[in-house]
Order: sequence, then structure tokens, then C-alpha cells
Amino acid sequence: MDFSLSKTQLEVQEKVREYAQKVVAPGAIARDDSKEFPEEIVKGMAKEGFVGIPIPKEFGGQGLGYQEYAIAMEELSKVDAGVSVALTVNTSLYGGTILTSDATPEQIEKFFGPVIRGEKIGCFGLTEPSAGSDVAGALTMAVKDGDDWVINGSKCFITNGPVADYIALFAYTDKDLGPAKSMACFIVPTDTEGLVFGDRHNTSGIHCGQVGEFYFNDMRIPNENMICESGEGFKLAMKVLDSGRIGVAAQALGIAEGAFEIAKEYMKERVQFGKPIWKNQYLGFKMAELEIDIDNARHLVYRAAWERDNNISTYGISAAKAKLYASDCAMRVTTDAIQVMGGSGYMKEYQVERMFRDAKITQIYEGTNEIQRLVLSNALFR
Ligand code: CAA
Repeated sequence: MDFSLSKTQLEVQEKVREYAQKVVAPGAIARDDSKEFPEEIVKGMAKEGFVGIPIPKEFGGQGLGYQEYAIAMEELSKVDAGVSVALTVNTSLYGGTILTSDATPEQIEKFFGPVIRGEKIGCFGLTEPSAGSDVAGALTMAVKDGDDWVINGSKCFITNGPVADYIALFAYTDKDLGPAKSMACFIVPTDTEGLVFGDRHNTSGIHCGQVGEFYFNDMRIPNENMICESGEGFKLAMKVLDSGRIGVAAQALGIAEGAFEIAKEYMKERVQFGKPIWKNQYLGFKMAELEIDIDNARHLVYRAAWERDNNISTYGISAAKAKLYASDCAMRVTTDAIQVMGGSGYMKEYQVERMFRDAKITQIYEGTNEIQRLVLSNALFR
């Protein structure tokens, strides 16, 4: 058993850490206030090769794995989860859908190549007003018409949606069979006629991440944009989420680590009753417990990524555990980071209150933690 990172993993960690500290960290507070999408940074991360970390070299990626990708997500999320969420959607949700589907090498180059190179942005179109946790409640439907599909319906809570060039769109094709048995997947350029951008959602956290809705009114998509046949789309979405949850788990881990470091530094400097506040046993012990909590989360995240890279069939289960634990850990750590810093923790300039708001969504997206418990309990008793 070896718990150390490999030479390549250490190099990825160092490169992404440097980028996160130099390029991402300086504007984090301003971006939280302005809620503006950091297009230059998001496309810049792709140009640095971050989107392509776990993508095979033949498709223009770095040919590394989910372990290196998790490390990258962790480093970026230490400073700004609003930025890292755009990476995880591009890589593991949008790209993951294409690579896990039946897409041909030509379709992969056409639809994912520009995202890997930082020319375009992708998003994952699964959730609908009637289909959040219950994916089979989807209403968006595709009907074959000659060589095209005509799609009607809507999607909501789509991260990257308002700025996306492409959607990996899930729609079902047979009224009698219903979504679970007839779902398909299409790549839809967002300038397609019949596609209407809806509202950009006003979120509690991840302010610079863009989350929105789409409406499809008799939108025509050529058959050549279909990447997953009718009937296989539901399982495709489930498989993509099995991997995607590793990205969210790593994001939550990074948020926890970022908030922990800020609180730790503050506690060394802040003097009350004639001593640095960490010397109050209650506060010092609290930090010791949080550090164990973060260690537990890190081991779960890295193990899920390692299982994914080594084709171990339980990686989806491990990803659910990692996502559930790390996101709950991020809430515990950010909540306590505010508390141990007192009034300062509640101030925007110390950043832990932003991290607290950002942490909350990691308990919700890519499957609420209740859904993770459902996945885990089903696996236990199957
Ligand atoms: N891999 C492969 N196949 C799977 C699977 C998996 N992980 N999970 C289920 N399946 C298969 C089942 O074997 C079954 O196949 P058969 O019909 O051949 O038997 C089929 O899929 C249906 O499975 P279930 O009966 O278990 O389906 P269900 O309707 O009960 O739902 C669920 C299962 C786990 C609750 C699922 O709906 C789910 O994961 N919900 C959460 C959705 C989610 O995570 N949404 C996140 C949206 S994306 C997002 O958040 C992005 C963002 O903003 C960043």
C-alpha cells in the first residue's frame, strides 16, 4: 500500500497550484461580488491542458487519469470553486458524456476537441423542472423526422449553460417506453434555431459559475449529432455521474482545505486573552478534529479516482461515498472556520463565508447527498 503521490501527480499538483494561486486567487472576492463569468480563466485552464488531464492523448488530452484530475480540481477549489465547477463540467460531465457514449472519433474531435483546446465551452443537459433526482421524470422529447430529430422541452439548473457553446442533451424518444427506457443523447450547438436561453439562475454560492435554463421549441438536430442511441441514454447519464461525482468530491475537498488553511493562519495571528487563539484548547482541538475530517475526505476522493483509473467496478460506489463525505466535510469545515474566526469569519474579505456558500452546492449537485445514500444503500442490499 502506497499513500504517496507519483512524480507525475506531484507535477500536476505543483502546476495547478501555481496557476490557482497566481491566476485564480487574486480575483476571487471580486468575482463573487460581480458574479461575472471568468471566460479568460476558464478557457485559459483548458489551454494550460487542465480540461484534457484525464482525456486520452489521441483526442488531444494529456492521457493522465482521474487521480490527476481530482488533484487539479482540489487545488483550484482551494481558492475558487466558482471557477473549478466550469472545469468539472467541461471535463467530466460534457466530455465524459461524449467519451462514454458511442461517439465516433470524428464526433469526439468535432464536439469535444474545441472544448479541450479552450475554444468552446460545454454543458450537461440532464436536469429538468420535473426531473431532478428523478431522472426518469424527464419530459424533453426527440421525435425522428427524416434525417433529423425534432426536440421539444426544457432543461434547468444547467451549470455552464448560459455561456455554453454545446449541450450534451438527454431527451427521450418513445412515449410508450418513457424516459428510462428510451432516452438518447445529442450534441446540440447552442446557436441552433429553436433553442432559447432562459434565465441565468441567481445562486447562493459559486457566483461566477453560470447556471441557467434552456427551452427547445421544435429544435431540429441532425442524426449525425446523436451520440447515444435511444434506450441507452439513461445508463449513459448514470455512468457519467459515477465519474462526475469524483470531480465534485475533489471540489468539496479543496473548499474544505482552503477554508481550513485560512482559519489556521488567522488563529496563529489573532491574539485574545494574551495568547494566539489556537492556544485555547477548545479551538485548537476543534482544528485537530477538522484535520482528521479532511484527511478522511481526501482518502475517499483519491481512492475513488484510483479505482476509476484502474477499472475497478466499484468506482461508482466509491465516488458516491467520496462525494457524500467530502461535501458534508466541506460544510463542517467552512461552518467551523467562520466560527473560530468570530466576526472576521463572517466578513467577505476573509473568504471563508464565500467558501461556506460554495460548499453547500456540493451536497446538492451531481446527485443530492440523499441520492448518494440511496445509491449506497441499494448497493449494500442488492
Ligand atoms: N451505471 C449503469 N447503469 C445504471 C446505473 C449506473 N450507475 N445506475 C442505474 N443504472 C441502470 C439500472 O441498472 C437500470 O437498468 P435496467 O433497466 O436494465 O434494469 C436502469 O439504469 C434504471 O435504474 P434504476 O431503476 O435504479 O433507476 P431510478 O429511476 O430508480 O433512478 C437514481 C436511479 C440513482 C435515483 C437516478 O435517477 C439518479 O442518479 N438520480 C440523481 C440524478 C443526478 O445526479 N442529477 C445530477 C444532475 S447533473 C448536475 O447536477 C450538474 C451540475 O450542475 C454540475
